Amino acid sequence: MSWWQETTIYQVYPRSFADSNGDGVGDLRGVIDRLDHLVDLGAGTVWLSPFFASPQRDWGYDVTDHCAVAPEYGTLADVDELLEEAHARGLRVMFDLVLNHTSDEHPWFVESRSSRTNPRADWYVWADGGGRRRRPNNWRTAMEIPSAWQWGEERQQWYLASFLPFQPDLNWRNPEVKAAMFDVVRFWLRRGVDGFRLDMFGSIMKDPALRSNPFRPGMLGGLPRLWLPVHTRNRPENVALARELRAVCDEFDPPERVLLGEVFGSPAELRAYLAEGDGLQLVFLFDFLTYRYSAAWLRRTIARFESAFPPPLQPTYVLENHDRSRTVDRVGGDEEKARVLACVLLTARGVPTIYQGQELGMRNTYIPLREARDPVARVFRFIPEALNRRIPERPNRDEVRTPMQWDGTANAGFCPEGVEPWLPVNPDHTRRNVAAQRDDPSSMLALYRGLLRLRRDHAALRAGTLHLLDERHVLAYERRHDSGDVLVAANLEDHPAALPVGTGARLLLATRGDVELDGPALRLPPHRAAVVAPGRT
Ligand code: BGC
Ligand code: MG
Repeated sequence: MSWWQETTIYQVYPRSFADSNGDGVGDLRGVIDRLDHLVDLGAGTVWLSPFFASPQRDWGYDVTDHCAVAPEYGTLADVDELLEEAHARGLRVMFDLVLNHTSDEHPWFVESRSSRTNPRADWYVWADGGGRRRRPNNWRTAMEIPSAWQWGEERQQWYLASFLPFQPDLNWRNPEVKAAMFDVVRFWLRRGVDGFRLDMFGSIMKDPALRSNPFRPGMLGGLPRLWLPVHTRNRPENVALARELRAVCDEFDPPERVLLGEVFGSPAELRAYLAEGDGLQLVFLFDFLTYRYSAAWLRRTIARFESAFPPPLQPTYVLENHDRSRTVDRVGGDEEKARVLACVLLTARGVPTIYQGQELGMRNTYIPLREARDPVARVFRFIPEALNRRIPERPNRDEVRTPMQWDGTANAGFCPEGVEPWLPVNPDHTRRNVAAQRDDPSSMLALYRGLLRLRRDHAALRAGTLHLLDERHVLAYERRHDSGDVLVAANLEDHPAALPVGTGARLLLATRGDVELDGPALRLPPHRAAVVAPGRT
């Protein structure tokens, strides 16, 4: 197996991880200083959200120079040191590549928008429409409500911006754009990065004839939408591009460099990105971001992933990231349920991702829409606060981006006391922090650490096949491997459950101490999960 098939990914949002220079903003040196936390946790790969030059209107997802580091985050020398220090600890490193768009302040766009004839006139997606009154078609942004077309005064034309108006989409059909961006990829690979998470990769190629999307209300990635994005998402050309990017990665010496796509769609649509083993290696499966807390739902979802991504392919499970609600909030504040989900995340077959603070059970930090620093929240400012508080897909992403909680001091150890952090620290940091949880065996951190240790100790959890058991009231599956099988059982109901696990079974881990082996039966109180070495039946 290649390293990435057995790894676990830990997402660092650099702005909120650790501030080393006391400006209230996390930075690369802060990440370097805290790498041992990842080692202690037992993660295999660190993925860093963007730290590249940017006016920070979308906090780094609006890039002005893909090969430069934003000054508040550090320097290229810091990147090199981070790679070196991570590798020395046996960690792999992935960066976040924003290929779909740049900032509108990127010199390429400044030039492109200046006239219809400049050398970069064709580097972005420009179209006439019907003058300034009529947009070229009905394409919508990722938020669905506003149009994706923005008026460019100088050229008297529309430009496409699939996310926010200040993030114009690059024209990937232009060979010069492709060549320039491939050079960016090579620039980082040469410095030793082990792979990339590809931002909005599903939107990268659009219909060249700019046909309108058909009106068909439904859901996509857990969010409501009105138009079926057939002409703007998951186009076959994306797969061709995935292959080309993979070829660029394969120009480099081992270890194998890995591409992980941010894509939304059905498992079959997502599977296409892996091509014949020569496309992306991994695609995020975001269904767990919109999970229903039920054994039936989890069983169905795991089964769908198993059939779309059979071995040697790997599903990529994710419960949290910098865009979506924290797990504990999604399950109504019940930490026991979050522990059950953690157990499933880290024992299902595939590559799991952990978002910083998830291992502490960090909560959303309520920040009203009117105070939001997140540009997406500003799009949704018309939503009444009372309603906003009840939407699980909270539009204010600030709430999941507050500083990492290292200790119980005034700024949670994120930045020095007396400095104002860029986003407020969650007041619960006095209780919920790394220092407090490190030596507490009942903590969320101890659970994540224990689960990751089990993955390292048991090949069945890293490389075994997965077989769902036909249990009605518990979610149960076996991970089978020549070196020994492992059984996982989760009770997501409000009443106790029992499951036969054979005589001589051993309990390897439970989400709480009240889970018991009673002869050949595993007894699970409500909202408990356990990992067992099965006995003889
Ligand atoms: C990222 C977001 C970002 C957007 C635009 C996404 O899907 O995860 O955080 O705002 O792409 O780049
Ligand atoms: Mg700083």
